[in-house]
Amino acid sequence: MKQVKLNNGILIPILGTGTNTFGKENNDYYGNITNDTKELDSAIDLGYRLIDTAISYRNESVVGLAVSKSGLDREKFFITTKIPGTEGFRTKKQVESAIQESLTNLKTDYIDLVLIHHPWDNNEEIAKVWSYLEEYVDNGVIKSIGVSNFNIDQINYLINNSRIKPVLNQIESHPGFWQDNIIEFCHKNEVAIQAWGPLSKVNDETKEVLNQIGKKYNKTWAQVILRYQIQRNVIVIPKSHRKEGQLANISVFDFVLTKEEMRIISEL
Ligand SMILES: NC(=O)c1ccc[n+]([C@@H]2O[C@H](COP(=O)([O-])OP(=O)(O)OC[C@H]3O[C@@H](n4cnc5c(N)ncnc54)[C@H](OP(=O)(O)O)[C@@H]3O)[C@@H](O)[C@H]2O)c1
Repeated sequence: MKQVKLNNGILIPILGTGTNTFGKENNDYYGNITNDTKELDSAIDLGYRLIDTAISYRNESVVGLAVSKSGLDREKFFITTKIPGTEGFRTKKQVESAIQESLTNLKTDYIDLVLIHHPWDNNEEIAKVWSYLEEYVDNGVIKSIGVSNFNIDQINYLINNSRIKPVLNQIESHPGFWQDNIIEFCHKNEVAIQAWGPLSKVNDETKEVLNQIGKKYNKTWAQVILRYQIQRNVIVIPKSHRKEGQLANISVFDFVLTKEEMRIISEL
């Protein structure tokens, strides 16, 4: 698996699995937690090591269970969780109890990456919460810290007003909404980009163009999207409940899109 070097020197796999409906009744985001690890078991079996969860997904414990059940060393995994950007996660005490709960649910004594899930309309307050997370980097309980859904101004504020630079910004990115401007800004500032929702909002017309491009490589529209992002150094976290889907999504390292194909895709 190709890795990306974060601005603190730590390596992250360029492809991982999303989890936001895993371990839930009816594969429903709001469904009850079942503690069924089947989706994660198959992902781990296929070689996925980057796992993206969040406090608001309520399934950190499912991730913790799957990782411990796998029998693989904890160090083999790169686990991301996210602290909500909502009231209730603002004071030092609140942040501390959230991180403690995540550690317990994930059954681990450290977390690879913690993101602020969403920004809110108060940069100073965000920087304060960030400073609490920085203390966890200092003591090694969190290896890296980053953000999610931040725009250029919000990430720029944090870069200029914090001790530790965000390693990564996790943003929505897919055909029709590639978000080139923020990607360019972050990459220029050594902040990695991770794309969420890489496959979920693609219309049939776009799928057709991507399937045409993929034909000569024997790849589908979904694989072409993931390959496109990887070739421009964007980390991807597709999610599939099907083992075949998971296999397809990780089978994107044996072909290379041409410059012209990259150009066509960039305009979709
Ligand atoms: N930071 C944030 O605010 C934020 C927001 C949303 C999501 N996320 C993270 O990003 C992850 C991924 O985003 P997502 O779950 O919204 O959507 P996604 O990964 O873009 O797409 C998932 C959908 O695509 C289908 N799919 C997956 N692989 C496929 C393939 N090879 N061929 C055809 N269809 C395929 C899945 O159906 P099947 O299950 O039937 O394969 C599912 O319906 C989430 O799980 C979560 O971890 C973060």
